[in-house]
Amino acid sequence: MLERTLAIIKPDGVRSRIIGEIIRCYEQGGLTPIAIRSTQLTKEQAKDFYQVHRDQPFFDDLTSFMSSGLIVVLALEGEGAILRHRDLMGATDPSKAAEGTIRKAFGSSIDCNVVHGSDALETAGKEIEFFFSDDDLYSQIE
Ligand code: CMP
Repeated sequence: MLERTLAIIKPDGVRSRIIGEIIRCYEQGGLTPIAIRSTQLTKEQAKDFYQVHRDQPFFDDLTSFMSSGLIVVLALEGEGAILRHRDLMGATDPSKAAEGTIRKAFGSSIDCNVVHGSDALETAGKEIEFFFSDDDLYSQIE
């Protein structure tokens, strides 16, 4: 099924100047960026985006990190895009991620793990809406 998912290149990825390499992984992995923008989240926006994790002990560190610098946000489209993107990213903890994945190649810790990706269809819709309006999305999905 043709799906959309949200990807975020986190502040560590932008600081390491690997935006191009990550987008190349997406393109070679069959995912088409249908919208891209750079932004810096405020702490409040980061808390809002990651509200599902609000009761986790890592919530404050996560939202501080995610608001610490520029991020690049992409809406990706492709066959089975959600799972495909998760496969390309690898496990949340880079030390447990498979060889050849983005997090294995570029991640340095569970906090600095370079990329975020939506975990399910419903989440993907909400996360894409968080950053993009319908007019931003050039889509092959009617
Ligand atoms: P991400 O996919 O952006 O979703 C939530 C983030 O919380 C996750 O990547 C990690 O960077 C971060 N995080 C920090 N500690 C943990 C943990 N113990 N389990 C899951 N995610 C964690």
